[in-house]
Amino acid sequence: EQIKIFSPATVANLSCGFDVLGCCLDNVGDEMTIRQNDLNQVRITKITGQDLPLEADKNVAGVAVKALLAAVGSLKGFDIEIDKKIKAGSGIGSSAASAAGAVFGVNKILGDPFSNMELIPFAMEGERLASGNAHADNVAPALLGGFSLVRSYEPLEVLKLPTPEELRVVVLHPLIEIKTKDSRSILRQSVSLKKAISQWGNLGALVSALYTENYGLLGRSLQDNIVEPVRSILIPYFDELKKIAVENGALGFGISGSGPSVYGMCRGDKNAEKVRTAIRDFYKSKDIDFELHLSEIN
Ligand code: HSE
Repeated sequence: EQIKIFSPATVANLSCGFDVLGCCLDNVGDEMTIRQNDLNQVRITKITGQDLPLEADKNVAGVAVKALLAAVGSLKGFDIEIDKKIKAGSGIGSSAASAAGAVFGVNKILGDPFSNMELIPFAMEGERLASGNAHADNVAPALLGGFSLVRSYEPLEVLKLPTPEELRVVVLHPLIEIKTKDSRSILRQSVSLKKAISQWGNLGALVSALYTENYGLLGRSLQDNIVEPVRSILIPYFDELKKIAVENGALGFGISGSGPSVYGMCRGDKNAEKVRTAIRDFYKSKDIDFELHLSEIN
């Protein structure tokens, strides 16, 4: 049996939700083919598009699938082929897509012993390998679609949140690589009470805005005064991009995951197009190589 999967890119953090909030892009993602083999072995048989380890124990997809198989006590083997469309170190959940897609596909072939929600901890093992930290804010939306919130890591509790229909996201990927491990290592480990208050105020309001489709509130809530000021120095012209996006009507703008990608949250296709054109023209004027995506959240 063989299964082909589209495994989506994701935007984690969404400014005020560091490590707990993320959303799933509709039209950017990897393609994966998974088939059972007779060798009782998990093998990464082919990776195109990126130079990544084929050894199963060093590959996020291999590690995630092994965690799943161990949980069901299965000795079955699988061959995994990955066509990486999402660049590693881009900030839109490249490792998460591989890990989530792999466990999703293997679970299907096994006859769905787990729900998509239950697959999250296995996919998180891939994240642990990739970044040294088993965060779920990319793998959860990749597996559940739409927006998701990690209420707690221990024990793990993830909630799926609604998606206001007119939301669009523009993602600009400056073609530099930032490893999540590195961009985590520069973060401070403590936060002042004052900053924490503004962050949890924004996160609560953002969740409310998703439920009530209140685009204005959503825009006001997409703020981050804890992580963004530290990480934005790694992103060329971050402040200028943000100013341009907001001037052109983006509801909010921030760093996607651990960067270097940045995202603009927009209301409707027309506004998203406008924001996309404005930031594209700006980066072109600065001679910076980039990729640009405009997506629904699904
Ligand atoms: N929440 C994680 C981080 C996402 O910002 O480090 C990494 O993609």
